[in-house]
Amino acid sequence: MSNRLSGYDQRRQRTAWFRDARFGMFIHWGLYAIPARGEWVRSAEQMSIEDYQPYFDRFNPVAFDPAAWARQAKRAGMRYAVLTAKHHDGFCLFDSSLTDYKATCTPAGRDLVREFVEAFRAENLKVGLYYSLPDWHHPDYPAWGDRQHPMRSNPEYRDKKHDWSNYVDYLHGQVRELCVNYGRLDIMWFDFSYWDKRGDAWRANELVRMVRSLQPDVLIDNRLGGSMEKAEPDEFAGDFHGPEQGVPRNGCQDELGRPLAWEACITLNNSWGYSAGDHEWKTPATVIRTLVNCASKDGNLLVNVGPDARGVIPLRATEILDEVGKWLAANGEAIYGCGPDARPRPEWGRWTRKGNLLYAHVMEQMIGHIALPGLRDQVKFARRVADEAEVILTDFWNQEVDSFDEPEDVFMAFRRPVMCTWPLPDPTNTVVRLELE
Ligand code: GLC
Repeated sequence: MSNRLSGYDQRRQRTAWFRDARFGMFIHWGLYAIPARGEWVRSAEQMSIEDYQPYFDRFNPVAFDPAAWARQAKRAGMRYAVLTAKHHDGFCLFDSSLTDYKATCTPAGRDLVREFVEAFRAENLKVGLYYSLPDWHHPDYPAWGDRQHPMRSNPEYRDKKHDWSNYVDYLHGQVRELCVNYGRLDIMWFDFSYWDKRGDAWRANELVRMVRSLQPDVLIDNRLGGSMEKAEPDEFAGDFHGPEQGVPRNGCQDELGRPLAWEACITLNNSWGYSAGDHEWKTPATVIRTLVNCASKDGNLLVNVGPDARGVIPLRATEILDEVGKWLAANGEAIYGCGPDARPRPEWGRWTRKGNLLYAHVMEQMIGHIALPGLRDQVKFARRVADEAEVILTDFWNQEVDSFDEPEDVFMAFRRPVMCTWPLPDPTNTVVRLELE
């Protein structure tokens, strides 16, 4: 990578594969799969380390099969995956030499991160690791009075001494292990900064320099506490934005208006870590439309799964992802490698664009033919992406008598007569490829 490129251009270059990939799998998995009340259970229920110990002693995911996870991601049309190497509870799925609080010391007895990266690479998927900056297990991470530490209001912790720099050394040491021991990493996903625990507190510049020296092409998220919006962001500000449980209305730009890479991360039900009582699943249509919403704004979607204590992705999650995958198998052309179009958002759905191909994602049943605003004389040919069937391009059906729409519009219809209302061939999202002049 040439040093003559500006920081911004370097980030554009680094994120090129990511912006093409558009769709990834987030995997939240750890000891908390056993209590099955989400990954914050220790904090939410203010459990001590001892309270949490039974899960460590019994962590034995007998059905853990990362190859099956990887095949699932592949079938869903995902192009990369990010696994929680360590979450806030401090438990490591990898064989760290800096702690015994790791999978290799549980009945699982295996380095689960190694098996994950190998299995996903074998399916040609890019791999990322999530690493929690907060750590509720490390003795030098401040507990008393913290925002979310499980012992935040336990008086026994009030006068406990801790050595912050010792914790930060540990964090740097573990990140180094991840960067050295697991081959090429495509994403380092740090989570998260709060209060005064941001940037310098993590020695974030030093951390990022170390990561980049070991993994020159790795992408880093934006949760070390910097601001990507600045024209000249800090080195640790990251390569992509990571909005959580929401899609930004207009995508992400820096203060000069330049596009920033971004990735919305969402849960498939309402939990990251396995939650046995959470049945509020999103429908396949919601996931598909959210993916389209992201791509139409130049962003990615990272959809989470929370495997259970056996290591199995919940059945409903697999069913939803398989449906999404079927849609993408037919329509992925309008997602992968596509970006936004400058036109205003159409009332029936979204635009995505690749060169002179404009994709109309029709997600709302309209009455009569469907307006393509401002596109009169600009479309050479129109076809449905899913079956390559021609889509009829036409004038407003009654234009001699009545033309309430704009004269520069052209209209499309799936059948004749064009003034009829034809059910959308794919009610979730019918994608039409418009070849522009
Ligand atoms: C968070 C949470 C968390 C989850 C996540 C995903 O900030 O604390 O449990 O891992 O973000 O974006």
